[in-house]
Amino acid sequence: MRTDPIHRRAALNRLAVTGATGLAAAAIAPNSTARNRAAAGLAVTVLLDEPIGTIRPALYGQFAEHIGGVIYDGIWVGPESKVANIDGIRRTLVEHVRQLGTVVVRWPGGCFADKYHWRDGIGPRSKRPRRFGRWREETETNQFGTHEFIRFCRLCGALPYFAANVGTGSPEEFQQWVEYCNAPVGSTSLADERTVNGQREPFGVGYWGVGNESWGCGGKFIPEDYCREYRRFTDWLPQYGVSLYLIAAGSNGNDRDWTRRFFARWVDGQRAPIKGWAPHYYCGTTGHALKFTQDQWYEQLHKANQMETLIVDQWATLAEFDPRHSVKLVIDEWGSWHPEGTEINKRHLFEQMSTLRDALVAALSLDTFNRHADKVDMANVAQLVNNLHSLFLADGDRFVATPNFHVYAMYRRHHGARGVKIAVEAPETSFRAGNREQRIFRVAGSASLSGPRDATLTLVHTHATEPAEVVIRLRGGAADRVGQTILTHKQLNAHNTFEQPDNLVPTTAVLVARGPELKCVLPPASVNRFDIRLG
Ligand code: AHR
Repeated sequence: MRTDPIHRRAALNRLAVTGATGLAAAAIAPNSTARNRAAAGLAVTVLLDEPIGTIRPALYGQFAEHIGGVIYDGIWVGPESKVANIDGIRRTLVEHVRQLGTVVVRWPGGCFADKYHWRDGIGPRSKRPRRFGRWREETETNQFGTHEFIRFCRLCGALPYFAANVGTGSPEEFQQWVEYCNAPVGSTSLADERTVNGQREPFGVGYWGVGNESWGCGGKFIPEDYCREYRRFTDWLPQYGVSLYLIAAGSNGNDRDWTRRFFARWVDGQRAPIKGWAPHYYCGTTGHALKFTQDQWYEQLHKANQMETLIVDQWATLAEFDPRHSVKLVIDEWGSWHPEGTEINKRHLFEQMSTLRDALVAALSLDTFNRHADKVDMANVAQLVNNLHSLFLADGDRFVATPNFHVYAMYRRHHGARGVKIAVEAPETSFRAGNREQRIFRVAGSASLSGPRDATLTLVHTHATEPAEVVIRLRGGAADRVGQTILTHKQLNAHNTFEQPDNLVPTTAVLVARGPELKCVLPPASVNRFDIRLG
């Protein structure tokens, strides 16, 4: 790994404290030498008068699948459990998800969705069928179904997003699920059944996915066949006054051929209603969840940043068939995917420990979504609890928020705000991936305006060892007051555990900074949020 010598010499010594505490106090570039260096190398201009679009809270969406410990143990502990719960739902989880704002939660899969029959999960819990659990030969008890999921969403102040079964289900089954959820009181037998099951008023579910990964576990379709199925599944869906946001299963990563072939068939004849196109992109792993080299640190962040290419490419491909862009992107699965070995409970399939590295993956992905808020309508990290890039880990009565949660909490200020463009001038850092030398951006981020006087700038600083002195220029405004919140740690693999839940948490300080140009320091390996009160 090599870096530009100027930045190797940057003011590391002045920032002797690189742990999670003490950083904020040191986060102001203190002398003119630092100012000159920063001006020469690193600058971020916030273009306050160049809007992108509204940053929808749905970009901060979550995903909860019937897999391993996500639902059973993570969300659902059951009403008889000794674990504190609200009607069977883990209370601590609810309290934390509430802090995320009005996010969307996708359920029941994932791959599970394409073998799930919704009727298994309604009615008295004691009478619900027990089924093969799909992922392992474990029994799916169906104790958590439509009503429990909606209850969870309501408790959290979140919006539900249902994924319907195309792989082993039927258009009629899908249509009846919509009817069961949304038909007005007493209007059909399914609405009556919903009332008998405890919910008189319609659930009013708007987000519906039509299958999942239809190129893979969702039926192994070719795109032309999936398009035909999509047409059948979305024909004659009842509206019941709810504006349905229908989402088609998109490509495996940035597979433009899948997208092109699906939409070539889509435009050939009567167009089925589609609002969202849902590619999945996992940046995978380099090394191991907890053990990785510095090169692997950079490589993982570099891979995560391919989300940007995916968004730009998929958007361009959609434009070939839908030049007015009536179809938006929904990245409804994304995140790191490390090898097994860090599960807190072996039953929790795909569970992994998330470190500072994963927090940076989260932050730079969220910044990417913000920067493309005109193209991306929703994004859902995989998955909420006890799984891949989780915000929480839970096992029995033990619960901890991972560093990813803190990133989501920090970025909440962007929700509903107007995204504005930023321009970053920064040297790149080189690293080795296998036998090849590659380069990664040093600083990336996004900005938004949440009122006439409130701007938010979030910046990810990727350098593993050295701080960066940065000039922040506000084009079209001047700062009156600035706060900097930082998430970082001296260890790149820092993480939170049940025993040490606050090992990696953000710290905040008020900067002595005013005017159109601010100077600040980004600690190494950090996520930063600047709350800028404009004068
Ligand atoms: O998130 C785990 C699995 O990854 C999902 O079920 C599937 O859609 C994806 O391949």
